[in-house]
Amino acid sequence: QRHLLSIADLKQHEIIDLLDRAERMVPVSRQERKTLPTLAGKTQINLFFEPSTRTQGSFEIAGKRLGALVMNMSVKTSSVSKGETLIDTATTLNAMRPDVIVVRHSAAGAVELLSQKVGCAVINAGDGAHEHPTQALLDALTIRNHKGRISGLTVAICGDIANSRVVRSNLLLLGALNVRTRVIAPRNLLPAGIEHLATEVFTDMREGLKDVDVVMMLRLQHERANGRMIPSVREYYRFYGLDAEKLSFAKPDVIVMHPGPMNRGVEIDPAIADGPASVVTEQVEMGVAVRMAVLDALLPARNNEGNQP
Ligand code: CP
Repeated sequence: QRHLLSIADLKQHEIIDLLDRAERMVPVSRQERKTLPTLAGKTQINLFFEPSTRTQGSFEIAGKRLGALVMNMSVKTSSVSKGETLIDTATTLNAMRPDVIVVRHSAAGAVELLSQKVGCAVINAGDGAHEHPTQALLDALTIRNHKGRISGLTVAICGDIANSRVVRSNLLLLGALNVRTRVIAPRNLLPAGIEHLATEVFTDMREGLKDVDVVMMLRLQHERANGRMIPSVREYYRFYGLDAEKLSFAKPDVIVMHPGPMNRGVEIDPAIADGPASVVTEQVEMGVAVRMAVLDALLPARNNEGNQP
């Protein structure tokens, strides 16, 4: 059974294949062409234990544009709210014979655990501070669309590195495509062991942004702080908020990205978020095409014999 749990599971050619496949999906994702019914007769369950606007919405649209029957489990009104465990929830949903379950959970590793208990494909839509593979894929597609290439570029990822699943998936994916990466953050928002990752580490925004092609801003994640000291918002914005002055250190044709949701005035000046260098809404748009590509790539390989874990 094939799943998408981590970018680490993908070889370079598989990443490029998914990006190329997503590019071919763009006209359908934008409804410039009719629905492509490659998932007709398939059932997709979206199981989100954490809030989501972009990922859940785009997975739903992606599945529907490909002709799947899509069911969104509302965790708040499900039996999870009565104490049903992750495994029991997975076993119950598996009995409904889905072809794919898209899962978001607050615990790192929870999606992989669930994948071992079901007989269908499982896609990680974000697990704790571990990984968010489809976000990294849509980020890469957005970069490639704008720059015409991806290898050889320099990408700076700035902000709450310690708590970010987006940064982990992006460092793996960009590294696999020979992109030079930098992370920029205050020391208390850098994870332990960051020096062992294949990325340059900066604590000063102006130094870290010098001559970069792409700036990726991250949300300050108060919900994952776990007692870790988060700087005051005013202080954080002064030193790490992306404004025109700090952005002027990057290349003149720099693009600015943010996975969303954005904290305007915390990690990014609204004038930059809405300015000419921002590709934030295009990231959302590419999200639909990338999720169509991932569903399309995973589902034809499915073993149709049944849903035995
Ligand atoms: N980027 C992202 O995962 O956004 P959502 O939390 O809205 O899905």
